[in-house]
Amino acid sequence: MFVIEASILSADFARLGEQAREAEAAGAEGIQIDVMDGHFVPSIGFGPAVVWALRPLVDVKLDAHLMVLQPERHLAAFVEAGADRLIVHWEACLHPHDVLKSIRGLGVEVGLAINPGTSLKVLEEVLDLIDVVQVMTVNPGFGGQPFIHSQLDKIRHLRQMLDDRGKAVSIAVDGGIDITTAPLVVRAGATILVAGSSIYNRAAPVAENIARLRASVTQTWGE
Ligand code: DX5
Repeated sequence: MFVIEASILSADFARLGEQAREAEAAGAEGIQIDVMDGHFVPSIGFGPAVVWALRPLVDVKLDAHLMVLQPERHLAAFVEAGADRLIVHWEACLHPHDVLKSIRGLGVEVGLAINPGTSLKVLEEVLDLIDVVQVMTVNPGFGGQPFIHSQLDKIRHLRQMLDDRGKAVSIAVDGGIDITTAPLVVRAGATILVAGSSIYNRAAPVAENIARLRASVTQTWGE
């Protein structure tokens, strides 16, 4: 069982609303909006205004992936704009436990992203506060980067950790997810596939890319 979320970082920004609707129509269960501050990551990305703009256009989940320092300063703005899930980076929080509690207090889903260089150990004290762990399979900040295969073991170990503790926490993966890597990460235990450039590219329409991504998993491992 897995779901696909379309990351609009690689979408055509001149047609963002259409591209979000295309992903929804093609069966994407969510849209991930990459918020970047130019400090935590080199790029500068979307703000709450994009969530405001997309909210009335699609019914699927809107995830705000906050690749920003001091994310606590921005939580309420993204929730007010219509985000269903806020994903903050462990590495960007001075007080992660407090930030996660704040997101919970705002009544939306709580996501915690960890970069390739961050150990699963950091999750020990906050597992009860999170709904989704987003394992970054690239170093964040850019779309179209190559998948970091060493993260497959991390996903497997995380799956085992959550199962051992009986935690109903989802595992999302983000970065380099395509028809080759999608079956590998689902096999390792991921249930939310965040994909940008394998969905939004000039090679094929969004619907075809999403169908191929889904088929790459179902044809390998069944539904
Ligand atoms: C961080 C971003 C990207 C994006 C997906 O860099 O979060 O990972 O969502 O990028 P692709 O799917 O193009 O690697």
